[in-house]
Amino acid sequence: MSSNIDLVIFGARGDLSKRKLFPALYHLDKAGLLADSVRIAGVAREDIDSIIFIEQTRTILENAVGESEWDETVWKRFSHRLQYIRIDFSQKKQFSALKEWSIEKRTIVYYMATPPSIFGSICKHLDEAGCVAKTSRIVLEKPIGHDLESSQEVNDTVGRYFPERNIYRIDHYLGKETVQNLLALRFANRMINSQWDNSCIDHVQITAAETVGIEGRWSYYDKVGQLRDMVQNHLLQLLCMVAMEPPNSLEADEIRAEKVKLLRALSPIDRDNVVSQAVRGQYAAGWVAGEPVVGYMEEEGCTGDSSNNETYVALKVYVDNWRWTGVPFYLRTGKRMKDKVTQVVITYKDNPHSLFPETDDEANNRLIINLQPNEGIQLEMVSKKQSLKQRMGVEKRTLNLDFFDSAGDSRIPDAYERLLLEVIKGDQWLFVSRDEIEASWRWCDTLLDAWVDKKVGTKSYSAGSWGPSKAEILIENDNRSWHED
Ligand code: BG6
Repeated sequence: MSSNIDLVIFGARGDLSKRKLFPALYHLDKAGLLADSVRIAGVAREDIDSIIFIEQTRTILENAVGESEWDETVWKRFSHRLQYIRIDFSQKKQFSALKEWSIEKRTIVYYMATPPSIFGSICKHLDEAGCVAKTSRIVLEKPIGHDLESSQEVNDTVGRYFPERNIYRIDHYLGKETVQNLLALRFANRMINSQWDNSCIDHVQITAAETVGIEGRWSYYDKVGQLRDMVQNHLLQLLCMVAMEPPNSLEADEIRAEKVKLLRALSPIDRDNVVSQAVRGQYAAGWVAGEPVVGYMEEEGCTGDSSNNETYVALKVYVDNWRWTGVPFYLRTGKRMKDKVTQVVITYKDNPHSLFPETDDEANNRLIINLQPNEGIQLEMVSKKQSLKQRMGVEKRTLNLDFFDSAGDSRIPDAYERLLLEVIKGDQWLFVSRDEIEASWRWCDTLLDAWVDKKVGTKSYSAGSWGPSKAEILIENDNRSWHED
């Protein structure tokens, strides 16, 4: 357990802090994973005192963690760690309050739960106030830039004050247990990793579908879109975990180097293939979970009569390397879709010859890795039908590894618990390196430019559906279909 660590959360009154960071820290404390000496400072510009901040944090936590997880003894311990420090981030002088709070020889972790536009000025003010030591760490939330150039600016600015080994760029998907389990699945199972290439795998599908819309973020989201919001980071990270080469070890540098290699091997989607390999969609009004919902252009905060921003993306991506040549990776992600599902589906190739002509039910093996909502892994296999009617009928059966079942009473930790724990330990293996961010922006920029170049518009889809029909065509053209339970 790491002691001698203090945590400073910039943006402590914001949504991320309330929904994710404080609950995650509470759970870590409850699990006995925070050393007694760890202190937590919430920093924001609001003029409240520490007592009010702590009282309000209690209310937030009670709601967030629920009655069954609430423990008065843990809260007592946790509340003693907390302190509120009021700082207007634009006022350099006010950062001296942090200097006063800090204790020499302790490592401080600065968590930027703020808009990226102010990362630079916060770093500068911290430095000028003498708050950045050789050991200080900084945690950055996405988005890191809007394209390659702006991401380089953010990285350069932060890099002026913090060396790369102390910068922790969050992609919360990497904190999810099932995403880490991809490493175990692939590299701890000889049976799986010996079949993990273009000689055995027909294609891969990665889906991150959400039922929510843009949740009051219209003015932000309209400048961003689903490609930047979800593909550039979460989907490409998932793709890396699925497709990267085995790292030499589980050390951060080894894993991150393999991810960079994979990102650099992505075949570009450019003006020549953008129409056949990428689909953009935008949701219109429809029904989600039995409730009527408005379309993107009727969302709260919407300005103007039309927008060419995508709320849905489907892509056919190739990886140009020895292992994956010829294997398409179909990626799709969208808002206001039928169900909340995050899933990786690996479909294996056909057998070279069928011995079971009596049945239609002989299916390709499929490995389904569910990240949300039910974390677990399923392997679809073919086995004999128990029946006297057919001589040798076969059917598809499923082997199920359900994480909830095997977790017993213990809860599956939220991604932020794992990520905060790793920052406190000083291990970057679940964080995104500068090289990864830049390689993924480089690839996305080519696609974004191609959309502009070829004037590719968005196709409408009804809220509560699986996206525009063009996305069905994208995969059906290859005689395949999207996996649906
Ligand atoms: C965030 C995106 O990074 O991820 C949101 O900005 C999206 O738009 C969210 O809703 C999805 O995360 P999860 O863990 O619910 O799949």
